[in-house]
Amino acid sequence: MKRIQLVLILVAICFAPVLLFGQTKNSNLNIIPKPVSVVQHEGTFILSGLTKFVVVGNDDEVWRIAEDFAASINVAKHTHINMVQAGQNDAQDNHVIFKLSDDADKYGTEGYTLDITPRGITIEAHQPNGIFYAVQTIYQLLPYQIFSQDAVGSMDLSLPCVKIFDKPRFAWRGNMLDVSRHFISIDYLKQNLDMLASLKMNKFHWHLTDDQGWRIEIKSYPNLTETGAWRVDRNKLDWHNRMEQQPGEIATYGGYYTQEQIKEIINYAQERFIDIIPEIDMPGHSRAAIASYPEISCDGADYKVATGGIMNDNTYCPGKEITFEFTERMLNEVMDLFPSQYMHIGGDECNKEKWETCEDCQKRIKDNNLADEHELQSYFIKRVEKIINARGKKMIGWDEIMQGGLAPNATVMSWRGTKGGIEAAKAGHDVVMTPHPYCYLDFRQGSIELEPDYGYSRLLLSTAYSYNPAPDDMKPEVAKHILGVQGNLWAESMQTPFDLNYMMFPRLFAIAEVGWTPYALKNYDDFVSRTDYAFNRLDAMHVNYAPSMYNITINHEGSIVNSNLTASLSADVNNIDIYYTLDGTSPDATSTLFTQAIPITKTTTIKAQAYKSGEALGRVTTKTILIHKAAAKKVEYFTQPNEKYNTSELCLTDCIHGPIEYSKEFWTAFRGSDVDLQIDLENIEDISTVKVSFLHNTRSWIFLPLEVQCEISVDGKAFASVGTVDLSASANQPGKLVEEAAFNFDTQQARYVRIKAKGMKINPEWHYAPGGENWIFMDEITVN
Ligand code: ACM
Ligand code: ZN
Repeated sequence: MKRIQLVLILVAICFAPVLLFGQTKNSNLNIIPKPVSVVQHEGTFILSGLTKFVVVGNDDEVWRIAEDFAASINVAKHTHINMVQAGQNDAQDNHVIFKLSDDADKYGTEGYTLDITPRGITIEAHQPNGIFYAVQTIYQLLPYQIFSQDAVGSMDLSLPCVKIFDKPRFAWRGNMLDVSRHFISIDYLKQNLDMLASLKMNKFHWHLTDDQGWRIEIKSYPNLTETGAWRVDRNKLDWHNRMEQQPGEIATYGGYYTQEQIKEIINYAQERFIDIIPEIDMPGHSRAAIASYPEISCDGADYKVATGGIMNDNTYCPGKEITFEFTERMLNEVMDLFPSQYMHIGGDECNKEKWETCEDCQKRIKDNNLADEHELQSYFIKRVEKIINARGKKMIGWDEIMQGGLAPNATVMSWRGTKGGIEAAKAGHDVVMTPHPYCYLDFRQGSIELEPDYGYSRLLLSTAYSYNPAPDDMKPEVAKHILGVQGNLWAESMQTPFDLNYMMFPRLFAIAEVGWTPYALKNYDDFVSRTDYAFNRLDAMHVNYAPSMYNITINHEGSIVNSNLTASLSADVNNIDIYYTLDGTSPDATSTLFTQAIPITKTTTIKAQAYKSGEALGRVTTKTILIHKAAAKKVEYFTQPNEKYNTSELCLTDCIHGPIEYSKEFWTAFRGSDVDLQIDLENIEDISTVKVSFLHNTRSWIFLPLEVQCEISVDGKAFASVGTVDLSASANQPGKLVEEAAFNFDTQQARYVRIKAKGMKINPEWHYAPGGENWIFMDEITVN
């Protein structure tokens, strides 16, 4: 945050003339994404039943946009707006004029001018897209109740007088929705398209197939939906540890879109100037396809649609010609349906194990002088590109399609970071930037204690907002290939619209602004203030969102060793008040206001919450810092911790408990081994409890030890056991938790405390990667 602020201050100084000239008075206009230029004037214009809508010229689309806008005003005012077509702009009072301009340079496809004066509104653009976006801006300038279906009849539709010139930074401003992991209703898709349109986003990437379900009707391959759209319901179990469909079980969970429904959604999107890019993921992530047509797999086995998890037997066989016949017919049907210029073929995370032992694949490698399975993947992707190019369309795929050599005309979607995308752009390929550290909307929006555990990692609102897909130091010949940016909402753990919206908002606002607004005009504080207002619109639409940006993070500084341990409180936003308590009670606006770091000298529980104008925001954060007899005492290791994690002598005794979301700084980790270590308390002490915390996160191969033993000694030579704790039952359950091994005993004298933990060492049979060398994560040994 601090770094971001500094950058913004520098940017503000460098661009002061622009800011002063163009953006002085818009801070209360609450438009997302922020327009390029806003000049506000005195006065207002009031839309009413007497306002005349004038469409200049005879463009049908402009007429439709005006008509749709009039219809929503009619609902809000219980009126009937008079619409007229005019040869030219004969500016009468109380009008809304919609007109196309010849000025392609000024507006491009999507730019517009919106001029609101006390006499009326004039909208000008070169294309209907721009007219549509001007109307979206008007909606955001109106009272937020306009977004509600319930608030009708008597709304006061005043608009501030303002002149806005606006056009997007990038041509590709998208969002991807995964409908394979859970089938998503048509109604939700429409709501989602409305949201994209309101944010001036123009690409909807529809992830239609994956291991867990095939969602699009293909008439020439009916099994794809008869079989591929359905799986056995194991939703109550951890996604990564689900038993496959067993003999006798019937697959009933799923669904698919008929071609008629697909057309309905395409039309709905087109009316909102959104291009739908269908994704058919191949050659990996294809379990649903090979379960439907086993002949396109390497071994033709009796595959079942996956119930969850990650798998290694889910690929097409690129060795067989029948695979290409299937791919060509199937993709042609998809391309018949979708008008998009782009066909997304996935290409990500293809596990090539089956190819290594498949005779057809190995023959293909030999016959085509391919070096290895990577080049076999490249062979497959290049043949698929020919199918797509033959239809005059462009192939796009995740950045793994670069492995083994990129297909000649491919567009790359860079998700594993930005490196692949930049490399592809340097080689002259178009790129859509969707790097996971900035764009993955399935990642948690804050600390795990306060967030639903849906995703794999963390993506704060400020981080999403900070992204710049084409920084100034990118060479122009590279930058010109960066088409834009996209959010990705993978939905393994999200089954309902409520869950999906929670993960999408407000971070999609940030992505929309990254894609639309010139980087120099972005300002996080201003964005947060507009986001805060935009929550009213989401409330009006009954769309769920995350208030996580207001949740307090409690960080520590200094160290108990140096007697300067302090706690500080912060949120992902500035300009809030943080109130806290140290007595275990819930904080409110009469609690202590956080102004400086809180000294910690004894065991302390901090509870904190954000407030603005006396109103509580976000959730209450609680953290206990426990001071104990082993605090800051050195640990001697008899088994070596892994050097990638915290190997300091004091990690285990720094009074800061490792959090459930593991990070290197908090946890001492051991790989594939037992644990044996001891603490020297430096003096002989009376002690009666020893507690040791362990992390369990089976998805990340971190397991509780099976058994933990504690011994104590006065002289470091003769040790006596104070107990053994059996954790083997919890260790053998999939999941994520922190568990404590606690040893309570009658008070005894000791100077040395020795901990021995018996590790599982390798992943058990039930794990998704059985046999893999696993971890013990340990933090804070408390002695009292
Ligand atoms: C991806 O996240 N596998 C593209
Ligand atoms: Zn094969």
